[in-house]
Amino acid sequence: MNATRQNSRILAIETSCDETSAAVVENGRTILSNIIASQIDLHAQFGGVFPEVASRKHVEVIHAVVEQALEEAHMGLDDIDCIAVTRGPGLVGSLLVGVNMAKGLALARHKPLLGINHIEGHIYSLWLTDQVDEIEFPLLTLVVSGGHTELYLMVDHGRYQHLGGTLDDAAGEAFDKVGRVLGLPFPGGPAIDKLAATGNATAYKFPRAVMEEGFNFSFSGLKTAVARQVKHFDKTRMPVEDVAASFQTAVVDVLVTKTERAALAYGVTAVHLAGGVSANRELRRTMTERLTVPVRYPSPILCTDNAAMIGAAAHWHFVNGRRDNLNIDVIPSLQLV
Ligand code: KG4
Ligand code: ZN
Repeated sequence: MNATRQNSRILAIETSCDETSAAVVENGRTILSNIIASQIDLHAQFGGVFPEVASRKHVEVIHAVVEQALEEAHMGLDDIDCIAVTRGPGLVGSLLVGVNMAKGLALARHKPLLGINHIEGHIYSLWLTDQVDEIEFPLLTLVVSGGHTELYLMVDHGRYQHLGGTLDDAAGEAFDKVGRVLGLPFPGGPAIDKLAATGNATAYKFPRAVMEEGFNFSFSGLKTAVARQVKHFDKTRMPVEDVAASFQTAVVDVLVTKTERAALAYGVTAVHLAGGVSANRELRRTMTERLTVPVRYPSPILCTDNAAMIGAAAHWHFVNGRRDNLNIDVIPSLQLV
């Protein structure tokens, strides 16, 4: 795919889970605005994302978020070449709010519409970071989020080979479940990252499911082992930091071991980390330390769900002539390949 000589200004919308986001992205590389209205505080009381509450909140704020994205980019809809929106994977009610908003704008203003895969958005968050000037394929991308743990070989723009994924819990899901067991606020990932910094990572030996062939992951055994260990403690005297650090080291060890194995097997030029868990400091540090190829990761704001990454992914489709039908539907379990 050669898209380097074509320009685009894309208004992107992302509502797949609990962030309502709209962005304006130029040429797939420059963020002109990226508004993110997070619902985390709203869902924390439920200890996880409550789908009905999420879609209702999206409806409440989506208009203001889109307006603010255009305003901050100093643009009107007339300046926009294309409307891009997350079509899946995600929560059906949440996705519908974004897709309907995008369809409405595209229809009313006669703009092309592109339905983008959320995972591909995470992958393209790397194109929005200024550390990546010349990206050479093939790349290995590890997408680690609340819903996914996937290894993709990326051979060109928009061309992926799925090498492996989680057989049970996603990495972020494991962080969130262990966070709950440790009595930490939702989401557990950032809280564990913080506590682990002062804990002893060798205090407890938790299992690592890395022995089998291939590039799949499994975290449910690890999660169960942590829960079993925690039962031994008096709640008021739990060594939370040590458990958090030992758990985090086990997750990171599994992720790095499999990624390293795939990087060697496919002779990639670099490894890209993306998704919410790619914000994890221990993961970034260990991956960079153990791999011999460059390891890149997005800036923290681009790790979490945001519309700019959807705009970045949409750029490559747009300049290659893809246009979607205005009656596209949401696909909650949309696959990348
Ligand atoms: O990509 P994302 O914002 O949403 C999904 O598409 O799922 O990822 C959210 C996940 C949550 O499970 C959260 O606990 C995890 O990313 N997360 C982290 C960190 N920051 C967010 N996990 C580990 N360490 C972090 N620093
Ligand atoms: Zn995500």
